[in-house]
Amino acid sequence: MNMSAKPRKHKIALLPGDGIGPEVTEQAIKVLDAVSDRFGHLFEYCHGDVGAIAIERHGDPLPEETLEACMNAEAVLFGAIGDPKYDNNPAAHIRPEQGLLRLRKSLGLFANLRPVKTYQQLLHLSPLREPIVQGVDFVIYRELTGGIYFGDKGRTEDGLAAYDHCNYHRAEIERIAHLAFRQARERRGKVTLVDKANVLETSRLWRAAVQELAQEYPDIQLEQLFVDNAAMQLIQNPRQFDVILTSNMFGDILSDAASVLPGSLGLLPSASIGAQASLFEPVHGSYPQAAGQDIANPMAAILSAAMMLDQLGMPEAGTAVRLTVQHVLEKGIGTPELQPAISYGCSQIGDLIAHLVAEPEEELLVKDAPISERLSTII
Ligand code: IPM
Ligand code: MN
Repeated sequence: MNMSAKPRKHKIALLPGDGIGPEVTEQAIKVLDAVSDRFGHLFEYCHGDVGAIAIERHGDPLPEETLEACMNAEAVLFGAIGDPKYDNNPAAHIRPEQGLLRLRKSLGLFANLRPVKTYQQLLHLSPLREPIVQGVDFVIYRELTGGIYFGDKGRTEDGLAAYDHCNYHRAEIERIAHLAFRQARERRGKVTLVDKANVLETSRLWRAAVQELAQEYPDIQLEQLFVDNAAMQLIQNPRQFDVILTSNMFGDILSDAASVLPGSLGLLPSASIGAQASLFEPVHGSYPQAAGQDIANPMAAILSAAMMLDQLGMPEAGTAVRLTVQHVLEKGIGTPELQPAISYGCSQIGDLIAHLVAEPEEELLVKDAPISERLSTII
């Protein structure tokens, strides 16, 4: 560590949430501690309840003090929310998901970024054939605080009809479109706008706004697809995509479809970017069946922390974390769902990645020995 520099402390709000959220978040923090050791970046944490646990403790999925902690932070590291108790009860008025939606709106998290990338050694786990998923590497830019999610909704008095309005303002489209085009510049130079402009007026507004804005980015190729076609292309030829830009609901659906391509949900990070704070969250849910068993894959949470490092202006540290995860996977090490040559628990994977981030020059020695011995040879 460079002792002469006096790094500023970055304030992070930790919201571990429900199910496996706490255990995967704990691994991400180990890795951030390792980043502090190696790069000298400093983090200051405050904790908040969110989701089902917050309903239990405070009667509210997003208690005031949690929101305040997030408002005062530069970034929020989020675990997962959800509990089957609420999923199976359509009459429940208070739900864990309301906490997340309110948090997105309150923090103004207008762009949800979901990178989807396949790893060579895990291609056999994909539901698609290997030649189709080999080399897939794209990112979805989903608008997150507008559209049908947040428009007027309601029922008629007799309860027999209902409506959900979809609204977009040009400014909401432009701010996320700028992020997507700038990202394409760092990548392979292509943006695919996904909409339903043959039917929806809001989609026609998206097209007009994005086409005009594209003129500021003459180096970027703009492609436009209807969402039904895009769903098909994601399965048939996912390698064609670089940056996908789309509205809230289409992005929700397409990102779930895309999330199965790499073969494990446990590998997919996400970032939700706001004007001030941003939020980083593994794509997998709370996976309650696995909670407390130390079998959950913490890589998505760790890779979400890497996206946080990029966003906070520490791309070198972010890259180091991503390379370490890739290296561990290449060595055939992972949690049980990856069917790895060597299967480790959630916290062992966290220890291993943290160790290799802090001591990158250390050789990863993998021996054919029982887990306890193997660990001591590696760490
Ligand atoms: C997601 C989730 C949320 C959404 C739910 C939990 C409200 O599916 O983050 O994609 O629909 O946005
Ligand atoms: Mn979703």
